[in-house]
Amino acid sequence: MKVLMVCLGNICRSPLAEGILTAKARAAGLSWQIDSAGTGGYHIGEPPHSLSQKVAAIHGIDISSQRCRQFRAADMNEFDRIYVMDSDNYQEVKRISGDLWNPDKVVLILNELMPGTNDTVPDPWYGTEKDYHHVFGLLSDACDRIIEKYHTV
Ligand code: 4NP
Repeated sequence: MKVLMVCLGNICRSPLAEGILTAKARAAGLSWQIDSAGTGGYHIGEPPHSLSQKVAAIHGIDISSQRCRQFRAADMNEFDRIYVMDSDNYQEVKRISGDLWNPDKVVLILNELMPGTNDTVPDPWYGTEKDYHHVFGLLSDACDRIIEKYHTV
């Protein structure tokens, strides 16, 4: 299975989601391909935010080699599932995808944890380390559900 994690900047939330799901898939013996991207192009080529790197490292996950890239329409064909963090990300993925838009592939990631709630993974960009820990916890729980749900794919 090929999974893409998407947020706005690809600097705080989706790099954590990529690192967490990669670690959990590996631990479960799954050969999934996992990547992340941002709908905005503000930070292309940059590593994840230092607090995302720090919080991941506290949990034994190294995301330092990730580099920011922007979501592109071809990703809609390339990936089997595309997880977004909030409804703005959803609308932007839809807009950028154009004719390639496939709503069956795109899911608010917290709906895997709390189906039907359309909850948001809060953007920690202006926050403190505590906010990054909160985001890590939400994404880790959601990724556990994703592994449970799709481990046979
Ligand atoms: P992210 O957070 O979407 O979780 O990566 C943000 C990072 C950067 C910006 C916004 C959100 N920015 O405006 O530069």
